[in-house]
Amino acid sequence: MKIRIAPSILAADFLNIENSVNMITEAGADLIHVDIMDGHFVPNLTFGPQLVSALKKKTSLPLDVHLMVDNPHEAIPLFSEAGADWLSIHPETSTHLHKDITHIKDLGKKAGIALNPASPLQIMNDIIQEVDYILIMSVNPGFGGQSFIEHSREKIRHLKKYLEVQNLDIPIEIDGGVTLENMEPLIQDGVTLFVSGSGIFKQKDPQNVLKKMKDLISRYEKP
Ligand code: DX5
Ligand code: ZN
Repeated sequence: MKIRIAPSILAADFLNIENSVNMITEAGADLIHVDIMDGHFVPNLTFGPQLVSALKKKTSLPLDVHLMVDNPHEAIPLFSEAGADWLSIHPETSTHLHKDITHIKDLGKKAGIALNPASPLQIMNDIIQEVDYILIMSVNPGFGGQSFIEHSREKIRHLKKYLEVQNLDIPIEIDGGVTLENMEPLIQDGVTLFVSGSGIFKQKDPQNVLKKMKDLISRYEKP
């Protein structure tokens, strides 16, 4: 499976988002990760649908919108309409997970499930056939710049094995504390979609770091 990178715009310079988008596009970003936080499910507030539609007008990269919000059923149509291409929701917030995932797919978007560090994989057992991607949180959601939780590696390996047994070809996304330095073992564990915020934007030369991430990935994609 193709391995992709989705830089997280949360770590970009908000007064120069357009420049950041151009920079990551040039360096080979595959998607743009957009963190939506509501101040309830997570203790932080970020962007609304207006930012998503503004981004949509400036980029042809798919927007990977990560909903960290209570009542996702209310947010799904708003962010879909605004231009999200991939939409992930947390089962910890959804009363009717099957309904919400189906709703995202009916809107023509890729539907993902995002799991907190302490949420077990089993929570997805009865919905996994329906999802287009699985996002494993490797930090507690709410803020960029946190350290990677090592236990996430074991979780990824379990998930990969589970997907193989089920004969499912679903991208595994990792989100939180990803850097150029810790990516390689994660590729070996089975991650196929990397989110990185501080690991790119807070570095001295973000474009160069992103290019190096792409180089690393391309070494694993060659037969
Ligand atoms: C955390 C967000 C992440 C965040 C990642 O709640 O879901 O997407 O932007 O940021 P870094 O890569 O800095 O940990
Ligand atoms: Zn995220």
